[in-house]
Amino acid sequence: MKNYFGYTDKVCVVTGASSGMGKATTEMLVDLGAKVYAIDLNPCPVEGITEFISCNLAKKTEIDEAFQKIPEHIDSFFGVAGLSGSKTDYRTTFDCNYTANMYITLNYLKTRMTKGGSIVYCTSTAGLEWKKFKKEQNKVVHAKTWEEVEALTKKLAESAPATFAYMYSKRCTSQFACEQSVEFAKLGIRINNVLPGSTDTGMKQEFQDMIGSEEELIAQAGLAGRLATPEEMAYPMVFLNSDMASFIAGLDMVVDYTDTCLKVLGLKKNLEAISATNPIICALAKKMIMKSASQKALNAGSDEKKSE
Ligand SMILES: NC(=O)c1ccc[n+]([C@@H]2O[C@H](COP(=O)([O-])OP(=O)(O)OC[C@H]3O[C@@H](n4cnc5c(N)ncnc54)[C@H](O)[C@@H]3O)[C@@H](O)[C@H]2O)c1
Repeated sequence: MKNYFGYTDKVCVVTGASSGMGKATTEMLVDLGAKVYAIDLNPCPVEGITEFISCNLAKKTEIDEAFQKIPEHIDSFFGVAGLSGSKTDYRTTFDCNYTANMYITLNYLKTRMTKGGSIVYCTSTAGLEWKKFKKEQNKVVHAKTWEEVEALTKKLAESAPATFAYMYSKRCTSQFACEQSVEFAKLGIRINNVLPGSTDTGMKQEFQDMIGSEEELIAQAGLAGRLATPEEMAYPMVFLNSDMASFIAGLDMVVDYTDTCLKVLGLKKNLEAISATNPIICALAKKMIMKSASQKALNAGSDEKKSE
């Protein structure tokens, strides 16, 4: 039988390998015969991986330590780890979602990959409007060091709600992928993005709390009438980094069962078409989030009293 995917014995690095889409990706790669280096904050339960590497991707020094443990030659990279921003601060959220992918790509993948290498980042349909807001992202995406990115986003990190770091970091990653896909294509290395819609993973509850209900979350999965499974996001990532996608580079692959089409056709409101950095919008959003959190705390308190 022909080995169409071509993963046998390939060195694959997966971030966010311990849960959700990253875990599903890791399982598939192990099944396809790859040597998988699984990076995550939490232990990776997948049997058959080559090595689990504990690493907080929001810390540059931990990334440097992690890459000391990975072979010099890397075939494929899957940047899947991410944070919603509902439980972490702006800095951590932005650095895990964007800065880590930028830093790894420019400092490790560029030097350790050769012709035939492939990279996929897991961004989000929340970052779909990156082309419209390029002006907001340009400086950050063109920064070449961790410290520069940190300095450029310092003010935002102090003033905007952490959940805004999610949309902004995903927009920055999509733009970075597009720009770097051109640079890396000259080296014979492909870069692509997968933009998932609503998916039933470890992050589900956080998005559900933000958006209000499971029904509203399901409505973001287009006409599927259900959330996607983690495997349904791992399939396109494994495909894009495989030999089967050898002529696909620079693609934003939207995986949302028509949700984006509905917005393009004007059949659904596009809530993502707002600025992620405008100070007035950020301040208003922060106020609204704080108000809703204190309302929730009040409601929880009165529920507790009633049950006494
Ligand atoms: N679930 C959704 O609806 C949805 C939709 C669009 C995009 N995404 C994106 O999909 C990707 C995968 O998330 P998921 O939905 O599978 O969620 P998940 O919470 O199940 O998995 C995320 C993984 O990333 C790891 N991680 C988080 N912060 C880390 C850090 N600082 N260092 C190292 N590892 C860290 C977590 O430990 C976890 O194993 C994320 O980038 C997320 O933004 C998710």
